[in-house]
Amino acid sequence: KRPAGAPDKELAQKVTQVGVIGAGLMASQFALLFVRRLQVPVVITDLDQSRVDKGLAYIHGEIAELLAKGRIDSDEANRLTALVTGTTDKADFADCDWVIEAVFEELGVKQDVFADVEQYISPEAILATNTSSLSVEQIGAKLKNPERLVGFHFFNPVAVMPLIEVVRTSKTTDAALSTAMVTAAKLRKNAIITRDTPGFVVNRVLAKVLGEAMHGVEQGMSFEDVVEAARPFGLPMDPFVLLDLVGLKVGAHVLDTHHSAFPERFFDSPALHELAEYGAIFEKDSAGKIKGY
Ligand code: CAA
Repeated sequence: KRPAGAPDKELAQKVTQVGVIGAGLMASQFALLFVRRLQVPVVITDLDQSRVDKGLAYIHGEIAELLAKGRIDSDEANRLTALVTGTTDKADFADCDWVIEAVFEELGVKQDVFADVEQYISPEAILATNTSSLSVEQIGAKLKNPERLVGFHFFNPVAVMPLIEVVRTSKTTDAALSTAMVTAAKLRKNAIITRDTPGFVVNRVLAKVLGEAMHGVEQGMSFEDVVEAARPFGLPMDPFVLLDLVGLKVGAHVLDTHHSAFPERFFDSPALHELAEYGAIFEKDSAGKIKGY
């Protein structure tokens, strides 16, 4: 069954090479997914070589783990390793027909990154943003060809979360949208098409859960009591472990975006902003395991 609002899949363009802008944890996770499921060259870039190397090291570590678990054989591990390369030179994106970014969640940064990369790629190449709550249309404001931009929002951990939110702007062509839907299917993810509104769908729900949980703490409840109160909902992770997974800065940004867009519906959380600055909610042991709040 064709998902609601999805154009004909015959319109989808071929993806023969993938460019990933940003080599942080989220970008590295989906770079690995692209190479594994599409079996095409994937090139990753970031501001400097050490960030690129860190991303590559993460991908190589995950490939080694897939091999150790017997999910792939050594031929496949070698093939995947050879298909992923890193660069700091956007000219190496020239043959990419799908370019996706996961850089810092700030409008100006994302606008500039896309305007910059557009100089190096073909006018037909599709651009995708992994933004979690910014306006996709505004992210494309400096593009010469904004009609090839779609939102393509993954969830953490990318390898296991089944959903992708595909975001259509008022300019996105059917070909770009169709390419996004077909690509999501090749990545073996369920895709839903959402409107270009703050938080799309998933983060609206997340902002409620995390906002209310932080609000409870701000009103004097202990973290442990909020976790206890949330337990009947059967979340796979308690709200604070989830915040830790999402990243405190990203979480604070999500609350901020929702509160600014809908002040009467969403809490912002000064405490979360403080925790994000401090860098942690939890005390952790040397292996990174959570010991307590
Ligand atoms: N990276 C890669 N793989 C991971 C992983 C990670 N960080 N965490 C777990 N996995 C894998 C494990 O390796 C395991 O795979 P195998 O079966 O191949 O061995 C599988 O996931 C299940 O792991 P576990 O049995 O250890 O864990 P679990 O049953 O406790 O489930 C979980 C772990 C899937 C992460 C689960 O806790 C969960 O669903 N948590 C909620 C996550 C969530 O809500 N994410 C969305 C956040 S919002 C967001 O990302 C977007 C945004 O814009 C802010």
